[in-house]
Amino acid sequence: MKLAASVEDVTKEYVLDGETVRALRGVSLEVPEGDYVAVMGASGSGKSTLLNLLGCLDRPTGGKLMLGDDDVSRLDDDRLSEIRASRIGFIFQSYNLIPQLTVLENIQVPLFYQGRLAGRDRDRCHELARMVGLADRLKHRPTQLSGGQQQRVAIARSLVNDPYFILADEPTGNLDSVTTEEILGLLDTLNKAGKTIIMVTHEDEVGARAKRIVRLRDGNILSDVRQEQRRKPVATPKNS
Ligand SMILES: Nc1ncnc2c1ncn2[C@@H]1O[C@H](COP(=O)(O)OP(=O)(O)OP(=O)(O)O)[C@@H](O)[C@H]1O
Ligand SMILES: [Mg+2]
Repeated sequence: MKLAASVEDVTKEYVLDGETVRALRGVSLEVPEGDYVAVMGASGSGKSTLLNLLGCLDRPTGGKLMLGDDDVSRLDDDRLSEIRASRIGFIFQSYNLIPQLTVLENIQVPLFYQGRLAGRDRDRCHELARMVGLADRLKHRPTQLSGGQQQRVAIARSLVNDPYFILADEPTGNLDSVTTEEILGLLDTLNKAGKTIIMVTHEDEVGARAKRIVRLRDGNILSDVRQEQRRKPVATPKNS
């Protein structure tokens, strides 16, 4: 079993005005490739802190953090941002698209950061736009799209780099229920195709779509439960 991420006794402390906040108090978690994890827990329990460490936006205070075969626990800022730009796919509640750029250009953004936009990469961006159902919106700008369409752009962008995993922080937090269902359906499809997803959510119905629910409380893992096969087979009425 290959691991997309391995978190070993990780702690994170923030020092603010001389006071130490222990945001993570020794968290251990293995995420195999192809997993779909929902991270849940009350406000302040450490969800974003954990996501920020997995996304190489920050370093743990203690413990060991591996992404694939790379130990990222003690990297300097340059190496950390290199990995972040090249190997992590982010999706945010607020989409974080660049308003001046078109749909296609937004999908290409992670490649600009790496200075590569060869023909093959361009083809890949078109292919991703098709995959998320936006092939006929390539020249639109974010303000000309619905919320769900903007999140589709963000999802396509998150896949450009062939990331270790997709990190999603409340990806449906701004969407109505119909659009939420569309986006969750797209994440299901990606996961079925083998993509690893780690998602923070407050909503039980959203968490229920994951294969596994990790609950945090006060910087510790409270529970880590693999869910039953989610969709029960629909009973087919017998012909009378
Ligand atoms: N940069 C920081 N400096 C100081 N304390 C911080 C910092 N970031 C987070 N904290 C503290 O660490 C703890 C965990 O915060 P975190 O943002 O991870 O919680 P969360 O579970 O994401 O909450 P929410 O559901 O409200 O987003 C909180 O007590 C918070 O106040
Ligand atoms: Mg948070």
